[in-house]
Amino acid sequence: MFENLKEQPADKILALIEAFKADPRDGKIDLGVGVYKNAEGVTPVMRAVKAAEKKIWEEQITKSYTGLAGDPAYADAMVGLVLGDAVERGQVAAVATPGGTGAVRQAFELVKMANPAARVFYSDPTWPNHVSILNYLGMETQSYRYFDSETGGVDFEGMIADLKANLKAGDVVLLHGCCHNPTGANLNLVQWKEVVAVLNETGAIPMIDIAYQGFGDGLDADAEATRYVAANVPELLIAASCSKNFGIYRERTGLLMAVSADAAKTKVNQGSLAFLNRQNYSFPPDHGARIVTTILTDPALRADWAAELEEVRLGMLELRKQLAAELQRLTGSDRFAFLGEHRGMFSRLGTTPELVEKMRADSGIYMVGDSRMNIAGLNTKTVPILAQAIVDAGV
Ligand code: LMR
Repeated sequence: MFENLKEQPADKILALIEAFKADPRDGKIDLGVGVYKNAEGVTPVMRAVKAAEKKIWEEQITKSYTGLAGDPAYADAMVGLVLGDAVERGQVAAVATPGGTGAVRQAFELVKMANPAARVFYSDPTWPNHVSILNYLGMETQSYRYFDSETGGVDFEGMIADLKANLKAGDVVLLHGCCHNPTGANLNLVQWKEVVAVLNETGAIPMIDIAYQGFGDGLDADAEATRYVAANVPELLIAASCSKNFGIYRERTGLLMAVSADAAKTKVNQGSLAFLNRQNYSFPPDHGARIVTTILTDPALRADWAAELEEVRLGMLELRKQLAAELQRLTGSDRFAFLGEHRGMFSRLGTTPELVEKMRADSGIYMVGDSRMNIAGLNTKTVPILAQAIVDAGV
C-alpha cells in the first residue's frame, strides 16, 4: 500500500519556517508564517492566558470528555465575541474545532453533506490552504477577482462582476471577515452591503473565515461586517479562530458556527455539526477553549486581554505606517501608501516571485512567494532595512 503514496507538495507558508531557520545570516528577517511576534521577535503568551491557565490548573477537577460540540460555555462566549447581538443565540449552531483550520474543514464538509453540487467561490488570492482543503475534498471551486496589484487595494468592480456573472443558488462564497489573508486589503461596510445584496439576489450562501479579529481596526470593528452579514442573510457559516487573537496557536482553538434566520433549523444544524466532529476526531480539544472561556467570562481577565490585544494591534499599525513612510521617502512616490491602508497581520506587496526570491537571496528577507509579508515580523529597526531591500530589488 505505501508504495502508492507520492511526495506531497510542501505547504509554501510552512516551508518558509524551515528555510528561514537554515539561513545562517545574522540580519535575516522572517516575514513568513502568520504568527505575531513582538519587537524582540518573541511570540509571547498573553498575560490573561497565563492567568487563565493558572486558574484552570487550580480549579479543574476532571479531564473527562466534554461533549461532541465542546463545552457549551465556550460556544456561548465565542458566539458573543464574534456576533455580538446581531442575531439571537438560538439561531446559531456552534461546535468547537481544532483551530480555525478545523472549523474551515468542517464547514466545507457540512457544505458537501448538505449540497454535494455546491460550488465554493474564493477570492483570488485566498489563504492557500482553503484551496488545498477544497481540492482534497474534491469540491468544485471557482475564484473571483479580489486584489488589484496595481493599487494594492480591492478590485471591487471585478469582484462584484464575477459574483454576479457566476453565482447560482446554493453556491457558497468564502469571504474573509477582516484582515484579508494574504493581501491585507479589505472591503468597507458599504461594499459588504453590496456583496450581501448579490448573495441574496442569487441565493448563494456566505461562509466567513474570521481568523484575525482584533488585529485590524479593533475587536468590534473587525466583527462589524460578519455581524452585518449574519443579520441580513438567511444562512451563514462562520469559521472563527482563537489562535492569533489569544496567541494560543498550538492549542488548536476554533469555532464553527452555522447561523440560520430560521431558528427552527438550529437543532438539526447543531446535530450535523456534532456528527461531523464525531466522524473526524470525536471530541474537540478543550484546553485552549477553556482558556478562552475563562478569559471572556471574567471581566478583569477580559479587559486585560483586550488591552494587550489592542497594544499588539496598534504596534502593527505603527509598523505599517513607518514602512509606508520610509518607502515614500526612498522612492519619492506614494506607490506604497497602500501598506498603511491595509489591515491585519499581512500585506501583499504585489510583486513577482522572482523579486521575492531576489530579496531573500540578496537581503535575507523571507516573505511568501506571492509577496505576502507578515508585518508583525518587523520592528522599528528592521522596517528601514526592508524598505531599502524593496527599493534595491527594484519592486
Ligand atoms: C498563515 O496564513 O500564515 C497562518 O494562517 C498559518 C498557517 O497555518 O498557514
